[in-house]
Amino acid sequence: MAGSGKAHLRPGRDAVLEVEDLVVEFPVGRGQVVHAVSGLDLDLLPGETLGILGESGCGKSTAGRAIMQLPAPTSGSVRFDGAELTGLGGGALRRGRARLQMIMQDPISSLNPRRKVKDLVAEGLSVWGFDPADHEGKNKETVVRELLAAVGLEPDVVWDRRPHELSGGQCQRVCIARALMLRPRVLICDEPVSSLDVSVQAQILNLLEETKERFGLSMVFIAHDVSVVKNISDRVMVLYLGKVCEVLPSEGMHLQAVHPYTRMLLASIPGEETEADAEASSGPGARAAELPSPLNPPSGCRFRTRCPLATDLCAAEEPVLRELASGHAVACHHVESP
Ligand SMILES: Nc1ncnc2c1ncn2[C@@H]1O[C@H](COP(=O)(O)OP(=O)(O)O)[C@@H](O)[C@H]1O
Ligand SMILES: [Mg+2]
Repeated sequence: MAGSGKAHLRPGRDAVLEVEDLVVEFPVGRGQVVHAVSGLDLDLLPGETLGILGESGCGKSTAGRAIMQLPAPTSGSVRFDGAELTGLGGGALRRGRARLQMIMQDPISSLNPRRKVKDLVAEGLSVWGFDPADHEGKNKETVVRELLAAVGLEPDVVWDRRPHELSGGQCQRVCIARALMLRPRVLICDEPVSSLDVSVQAQILNLLEETKERFGLSMVFIAHDVSVVKNISDRVMVLYLGKVCEVLPSEGMHLQAVHPYTRMLLASIPGEETEADAEASSGPGARAAELPSPLNPPSGCRFRTRCPLATDLCAAEEPVLRELASGHAVACHHVESP
């Protein structure tokens, strides 16, 4: 797109999370509005990991937060486990989204610095109190210990520590344990490894994959790093200035992707660019490298100001997502099937 359309949705497949026409606008004074997310649709099936990919400023975090109703979107629908979350408030919202949890990019600042690990992990339970029946009759302390062990932390070592006494990777492990305490069905991970040392990133990614299998979760995995998203996801959704460009299976993505923006992102991974990518990124068609302002996004296709294929049509008409192959949809006036 950067366009619109729902060709990538799979109605009738019992999605655990369904988002339709999600719009998030931030009024910033003098009548100006940041168009952060402009009509996003997605569905997530049980056990699936959906990657959301796009460079910084594309609206990924805003979309993730709006799904969590943090804050609620400007408009659109978010159905989790069959129930509409938009319009809920207070206790009904806290209960309605308890099994939808989010892990943030910066684990240290998402933890209350004054609280100890044992309390941080149990904190979310204030939503509905601790019910041993939810945890095979175990008491709270046992459950917290088991979750700490499940995320690779030694309970006796970290029990009374506060966030500043832990490394970034350990803090992210605490955040994961804390989310698991509420027995989520869906975990939204917003750049969960971007702030961590490279050596720790793989450990946390492995932990997330293991956790997903062990606890039977579905995941939305947000990142700007193509290689990270591609490895962990079943499907990848590419977002540009708040709109979807392309949705495709992650397997074989570097060969199948056709949207010029997806190709541009793939060309940024060393060793994965094709000859056509190299030409597009340096040839006569190459355009500006800057993301346009979301205060005044380009007409028609939002990507057109940077697109090597752009024509007058792209300025005049927004491309609509169309299905190229099963599980592969693209919003571009000019691309053909791979
Ligand atoms: N609270 C806010 N007020 C105004 N603009 C915002 C706010 N939050 C995010 N934005 C803007 O929305 C756009 C998308 O931001 P974000 O969702 O953080 O992108 P990403 O996570 O893809 O980097 C950016 O232009 C950002 O500056
Ligand atoms: Mg972000």
